[in-house]
Formats: sequence, structure tokens, C-alpha cells
Amino acid sequence: MSDVVLVTGGGGYIGTTLVPMLVERGYRVRVIDRFFFGRDRLPDDDRIEKITEDTRRLTPAHFAGVRYVIDLAAISNDPSGALFPEATWEINHAARVRCAHLAREAGAERYVLPSSCSVYGFQDPDVIADESHPTNPLTVYAKANERAELDVLPLAGDSFGVVVLRQATVYGYSPRMRFDLAINGMTYGAWKHRRLPLMRDGSQWRPMVHVADTSRALIWAIEAPASDVSGEVFNVGSEENVYQIGPLGRLVAETVGDDVEIEWYGDPDHRSYRVSFEKIESRGYKAEHTAVDGVRDVVAALEAGHTDRTPDTITLEWYRLLVEWRERLAQVELDGALIELGSRG
Ligand SMILES: NC(=O)c1ccc[n+]([C@@H]2O[C@H](COP(=O)([O-])OP(=O)(O)OC[C@H]3O[C@@H](n4cnc5c(N)ncnc54)[C@H](O)[C@@H]3O)[C@@H](O)[C@H]2O)c1
Repeated sequence: MSDVVLVTGGGGYIGTTLVPMLVERGYRVRVIDRFFFGRDRLPDDDRIEKITEDTRRLTPAHFAGVRYVIDLAAISNDPSGALFPEATWEINHAARVRCAHLAREAGAERYVLPSSCSVYGFQDPDVIADESHPTNPLTVYAKANERAELDVLPLAGDSFGVVVLRQATVYGYSPRMRFDLAINGMTYGAWKHRRLPLMRDGSQWRPMVHVADTSRALIWAIEAPASDVSGEVFNVGSEENVYQIGPLGRLVAETVGDDVEIEWYGDPDHRSYRVSFEKIESRGYKAEHTAVDGVRDVVAALEAGHTDRTPDTITLEWYRLLVEWRERLAQVELDGALIELGSRG
């Protein structure tokens, strides 16, 4: 039996934590990624095959010998989805549905869609949404996730499992770091400037999950018996990790130091949802970490110089810069060369 897991988007924030964990568990991993955030965030290892390709151009050959697929590749947040709406529909919806079809045709055993709790959008504060609660996606990003869920689930059958994981907002250190995620951004501000940026008005509810815990959930989704998980949607997180932003900010500030001040910004955030994690826990998965662990990891990585708030740690900023550089290069390139015409340097 093959032990190959195809991970699309494996060079991203979740992928660069997940892929080494898969290797540690004895799998071989084929990563297919545009590597917008760099190839070197994943270790060089015989058990990790890195293929630079766009998920909109997957072919049956990419699935040869693959047993499981974890389809992480996506435009991964609301503002980037708003900047590239067409590409977000193509990548986050159409390419994933096609990927699931190709996986099934190639004889893979299981396909996992890493979706998002943002499909719940705004909900009344007294609602605690379980997986059967009506969704309310508010952005292109959330809508494309929901459409992908609806289109991949019917592919589940006797010999092909499909699992949808609605991940809470992720936090914690990962080699491709993201400081545009709530807890990570708060931690950076508190650590660097002793000021913690907090989105108004602080009453909004948000479920969170540690990057190692969501990676464990993705591994659980390929390993759990098909009868327990196939054709099903699971929220990924835990009751202990459902926070209101105001109290969460104070917790992060206290964890970083007693001299950290809160700095409010923005218009009141309308995305607010409380989510139930009973279903995934009833099938044997339990998150192990809470926000304080994530804050400590991120501070340790900052102190050790393993990460910093560079443009590539803010997803939207990085995509904007890539587009800008492309335009600038196109203006000055001559037959593909810059300064050194002979060596194409
Ligand atoms: N991080 C979170 O808080 C969170 C929460 C819920 C759901 N998710 C979902 O989990 C998945 C991974 O998120 P992440 O935080 O690791 O994001 P990320 O942006 O760090 O990683 C996405 C990866 O996909 C790659 N990619 C993008 N478009 C591609 C394409 N067309 N072809 C090939 N590769 C492409 C990028 O290069 C990147 O390596 C996404 O689907 C995201 O929507 C993330």
C-alpha cells in the first residue's frame, strides 16, 4: 500500500508545519505549490518531493501512486480574496473540485478539504454553530470555500473518502510565518512595540486553533476509519479556544509582558461566530494547545531570530508586492535580461 500523501499548498503556513509532521509519522509527501512564499521553508529531505506547479493545471500524473490528498492550496484570507476575486474562485473552488475528481479517478483513498469556520460569517451571539447550522459566508474567500465543500462532498463513495475540515483561525509559529492572523499579529505588536493592535469593538467571537493542532486534525482526517469521517464536515478547534477578541487581547498582552498596552483600530468587525467542536471530539480528536502556548511559541521564535514581520509574513502585502515587482521587471527587462545582458543577470 502506498504511503504517499499529496499536499497542495504544502509550502504555506499550515503546510510547513504539517509536512514535517507527516514525514515524522512515516509518510512520503509530494508537495505541489507555486511556492509564493519560498521553497526553502520546507526542509530538503528525500521523503519530501517539491513540485512547483499551479493547482489549476494539475494532471493525472501528479496523482500517480498517491494514497491521500490534503488540498491546502488557496488564496488564504478575506483581503487577498477581495484583491483577486476571479483567481480566488478558480483556485479555492474550481481547482479544488477538479483536484478531488482527479484524486478519485487516480484511485486515491481519501481527499481532505481544509475549509474554514469563516463559512459561518456573522451569527447571533447566542448561536453556537455546529456543522448542521446554516452557513452565512460574507466574503469571496468564505463563499468559495463553501462552494468547494458543496461540490466535493458528493464525490464520497465506497472506495473514496472525502472529509471537509472547517478550521478555526490558526495561530502559533510555523516556518512560513503569518503575522496577518489574529493571535500572531497581536503577539508581534506586543513583543516588538509593547502595543497590541486590537480590532474594534472586541466583543466579536472567534474560534482559534494552534497550527500543530490543525495539522494533527488533517492527519486524523486521513487516518480515521472511513465509516467515521467520510462524507462529513467537521469544525476544527476546541471550546477552550473560542475567544472574544477583547479578553483574548488582554490575555496575549499579559503573556508577552506587564508593560503592553492595547491599541484599538478599525471599524467594528462584523465577522463574529461561536462554533461547536463536539462532533470532532466525539470521533476521537482533541486539540491540545491554547492561545498562551501559541503566544509563547511565537515569542520564542522572534527572540531566536527564526522569524520577523517581513512583507512575506503578511499575505496580502506579499501578493501585492509580487504583482508590483512583476510590472516593474516587465518595464526594464530586455529579452528576459536585466543588467548583465550576456549572463541574463
Ligand atoms: N491560516 C488560517 O487561519 C486558516 C484558517 C482556516 C482555513 N485555512 C485554509 O487552510 C489553507 C492553508 O492556509 P495557510 O494559512 O497555510 O495559507 P498560506 O497562504 O500560507 O498557504 C497557501 C499556499 O498555497 C500556495 N498556493 C496559492 N495558490 C496556489 C495555486 N494556484 N497553485 C499552487 N499553490 C498555490 C501558496 O504558495 C502557499 O504556499 C487555505 O485553504 C486556507 O484557506 C487557513
